[in-house]
Amino acid sequence: MRITTSLTRMWLTRSIKPFIFKNEYDERLPFSDCGNLGLYVHIPFCKSICSFCPYCKVKYEKDLCDKYIDALIREIHLVGSQHSGKKTTTSLYFGGGTPALAADRLEEIMDAIGEHFIITEGIGVELHPDNVDPSLLRILKDAGVTKISIGIQSFQRKYQSVLGRTSVDIAALKEALAAVPFETVSMDFIFALPAQTFEDLKADIDTAFQNGANHVAIYPFIDFTFTASKVTPMPKKEKHALLDAITLYCMEQGYARSSIWTFSSKKDAKYSSMTRDNFLGFGCSATTLLKNQFKINTFSVEEYCKRVGDGKLPTSLTIRFSLRQRMIYYLFWTAYSTKVNAADFESFFGVPLKRMYGMELKIAKLLGFITQENDNYHMTLKGAFYYHYYENFYTLAYIDKMWGIMRKEAFPEHLEL
Ligand SMILES: C[S@@+](CC[C@H](N)C(=O)[O-])C[C@H]1O[C@@H](n2cnc3c(N)ncnc32)[C@H](O)[C@@H]1O
Ligand code: SF4
Repeated sequence: MRITTSLTRMWLTRSIKPFIFKNEYDERLPFSDCGNLGLYVHIPFCKSICSFCPYCKVKYEKDLCDKYIDALIREIHLVGSQHSGKKTTTSLYFGGGTPALAADRLEEIMDAIGEHFIITEGIGVELHPDNVDPSLLRILKDAGVTKISIGIQSFQRKYQSVLGRTSVDIAALKEALAAVPFETVSMDFIFALPAQTFEDLKADIDTAFQNGANHVAIYPFIDFTFTASKVTPMPKKEKHALLDAITLYCMEQGYARSSIWTFSSKKDAKYSSMTRDNFLGFGCSATTLLKNQFKINTFSVEEYCKRVGDGKLPTSLTIRFSLRQRMIYYLFWTAYSTKVNAADFESFFGVPLKRMYGMELKIAKLLGFITQENDNYHMTLKGAFYYHYYENFYTLAYIDKMWGIMRKEAFPEHLEL
């Protein structure tokens, strides 16, 4: 598996140079002249920890959460004040963890953001189903939140117990969502669970759209090596058949495919914190991408608070991409939306896409992975499966390794992927 990802990386970056992350960072971040800049805030607290979940999170304690939010606000000011005036950004997403556990401090966080940034495309918050009640939704709405994403995982008891999740009160969910409407109401599901059938998944999607969702995200289950999950991943052939069947079903229903795993019943319903050209991340484990620089904050809540308390950025590792590495990163995440526009690539990098990756585009067309319509390359059903299949390799070879190390060491010396 590592060989496949390494060879692909060498081929696409035309270099044997690996991705090298170093324990160094810029105190001043070059975001002032970055266009299409998004913001992300990480809140790493959960009431109980799910065995399958790889994200940076710790068990919720009120005092620790308050100390963390103090540090978070300080980090926002440390970075935000590096730009004179207010910097225009696209969207702001809160992820976790369970951001709603810090709802009583949301206004303070938003005030800190508002001192330095202008948000033009809305604010999104990830929610646990237990958070979905009218009073919390009202707090979010009053703070300016326009999109919510609820981690359902499955509405079915058999899969809730496989995943160690409690059942969801569907009637209460529907009522709360009707009482406090949002522009996007997304629901997350995990697919490719043991013996999961098309009927199982179809029932989940139908239930979501009938009970207040206008957008769904269907994530393939990933078996991270450092989690305590006992879930057995589904074999490739079955997974492929399931992904194709559910995609075709969603298309027949007239749902728009807004990204590789997301479908919406309303045209402008969107929820994605990933496909932005540049972004600033605040909080532990948050990542920042500015031109060719990519950095990741420490995963340790304690060390995060200490570093920020000393007036320093909590950056753990930084990579400075070569041009080809940056292009691959760009293409990988742009392809997540199932299409790549050659003119956008050229305006971002100043070189034609065909000149850089003409041969790869030809091969992808011959293999039936993409089709071309003027400047747009669209992913086919087959292409979407192989993107997803490769993404699984990439996640296990790169993200699993990196997060596995960063969970143990707050500030590793060096990391090569
Ligand atoms: C940070 S969590 C979501 C919000 C909230 N904490 C919750 O659990 O309801 C983000 C989403 O990642 C997905 N996820 C978590 N672990 C996963 C795994 N091992 N494989 C695939 N998707 C996963 C889940 O669908 C989850 O809703
Ligand atoms: S899935 Fe959600 S609730 Fe469960 S541990 Fe992960 S972030 Fe926390």
